[in-house]
Amino acid sequence: MAKSKPIIRPMTADDLETVVILEKELFSDPWPMSAFMDDLASDYSHPFVVQIDKEIAGYAILWIGVDEGHLTNIAVAKKYQRKSIAKRLLSYILRFAAESGLTQMILEVRPSNTPAIFLYESFGFARLGVRKRYYKNPVEDCLVMKKEITGVNLK
Ligand SMILES: CC(C)(COP(=O)(O)OP(=O)(O)OC[C@H]1O[C@@H](n2cnc3c(N)ncnc32)[C@H](O)[C@@H]1OP(=O)(O)O)[C@@H](O)C(=O)NCCC(=O)NCCS
Repeated sequence: MAKSKPIIRPMTADDLETVVILEKELFSDPWPMSAFMDDLASDYSHPFVVQIDKEIAGYAILWIGVDEGHLTNIAVAKKYQRKSIAKRLLSYILRFAAESGLTQMILEVRPSNTPAIFLYESFGFARLGVRKRYYKNPVEDCLVMKKEITGVNLK
């Protein structure tokens, strides 16, 4: 049977078990369950999932501080990668950010994470700077990227 269209919705406590399994599959230094629980409980945090039929295909977390957004996490399950799910999710988040009155968004990424950097650059994120030895397992610098949000240049 054909899969239904992806739906993007706020993450709930019922999603956490699956999200943590995906996080372990997708990251070498995964966030623990407690980090996602904190996100669900925080006013400044806006966690979203992409659902296809009954499956969680991906997730992303946006932190909002005054007029700046911080995309702290975005990930797509391996079986759903290269199907434009991250594009949909990032588009949705940028629109949500614009509607929330944010003027810029920043994010951090491993310089070795070419797929993610290509994704961010395709949305107009520019390289802002590098934080030395920021990541662990393996230790790696962190590339900070930034996008101005004008509300008119969203995908
Ligand atoms: C990065 C990630 C979220 C992309 O998700 P995705 O749903 O596969 O991405 P999309 O299909 O929407 O692709 C969007 C763009 O990203 C880039 N991209 C995605 N995967 C890529 C790959 N394997 N190689 C090169 N570019 C890639 C391309 O520019 C692509 O656009 P295109 O299809 O027009 O070429 C996914 O690979 C992932 O979950 N990786 C592990 C977790 C992670 O590293 N998250 C980022 C943390 S900073």
